[in-house]
Amino acid sequence: MKEIKRIGVLTSGGDCSGLNAVIRAVVLRAVQTYHWEVFGIYNSTNGLISRPMQYKQLTVSDFDFPFARLGGTMLGTNNSGNPNLQMTDGVLSEISSEEVLERFKKGVEELQLDALVVIGGDGSMAIIGNYCAKTGISMIGIPKTIDNDAPATEYAVGFSTAVDSVVDAMDRLTSTARSHNRVMIVEVMGRGAGHLALESAIAGFSDVCLIPEIPYTYEGIVKKLREVRKSGRNYSLVTIAEGIEAPDGKHVYALNGKTFGGVSNIIADKLSKEEDNFNVRVTVLGHIQRGGDPNATDRVMASAYGVYAVDSLAHGKTNQVVCYNQGKIEEKDLEYVLKVGNNPVDPKGCRVQAARGLGIYVGEEIK
Ligand code: F6P
Repeated sequence: MKEIKRIGVLTSGGDCSGLNAVIRAVVLRAVQTYHWEVFGIYNSTNGLISRPMQYKQLTVSDFDFPFARLGGTMLGTNNSGNPNLQMTDGVLSEISSEEVLERFKKGVEELQLDALVVIGGDGSMAIIGNYCAKTGISMIGIPKTIDNDAPATEYAVGFSTAVDSVVDAMDRLTSTARSHNRVMIVEVMGRGAGHLALESAIAGFSDVCLIPEIPYTYEGIVKKLREVRKSGRNYSLVTIAEGIEAPDGKHVYALNGKTFGGVSNIIADKLSKEEDNFNVRVTVLGHIQRGGDPNATDRVMASAYGVYAVDSLAHGKTNQVVCYNQGKIEEKDLEYVLKVGNNPVDPKGCRVQAARGLGIYVGEEIK
């Protein structure tokens, strides 16, 4: 087992709250316990690939400044989805996979890194895990995403703070909905998974919650809104995950056929044309959900993951991802994690059951 003396840490993929708290935990554990040096790599792998390289040695005292209490990532990130699109020599251009790998290897050599901590999604871990294996350095991944659909783990950093932001928005929307007899639709992030929508809908006392994992009918939404009215309540709350299909079975994109957004407007328009005269308004929360300072749960999970990841490297582990399941953190093989694939909402799980039990319309029951 090669002795570790120096590690790199980077953030990759879409940001979320809690990333700085992970970086802090990695630095504290690596420096204080193992006396390793830690280099923060800027803008995902780009910091190693660009010339001059972009990095900074991180010390414990860097965290005297309250970085770790803030949202975003102090190291910057990149979620272009194209690993060959790199900022090299000050110009953003597409370079060959061979050149990316070559520059990565040289970057690692120059910085004398023995291991890399990758705080990112499964896509980033697959790409960077491969670079690390080919470069001969250890790699460990820490899952993050407000969608909470990272494979093989019940928790991804950033989720809890995002839920808080959505619920806060719902609380605000409820008071104005009540003043104006309105149906308020809240569209939340979640490309392929509805964890954020579902958890927020329960906590925010929503009447309807539509998520990609459970098919719904437009009539089901109308029926629920009519029931609410009949009960004497003058307002309703509808939570929609951006990744659901519109009633015509198509996805709705806000930008360039890739970024979801706007399915709520289609549903709102249909509802407003019903004979019930539903007075509908839409709020698309967008990137508000990715910002803000991490809450206590995210700080705790970020800290626990960071410490565990460094310990794993110290124990000679490589190509692993730290995962949290049934109250325990353990590492799992990257290969296994990638094979398992993203973690969707279980349509028969306890949260869906709770939502149905409360009378929330969560789509049609799957037999
Ligand atoms: O993966 C997290 C996520 O927040 C998705 O829910 C959302 O669709 C996406 O990121 C948006 O990312 P960006 O606009 O940064 O490309």
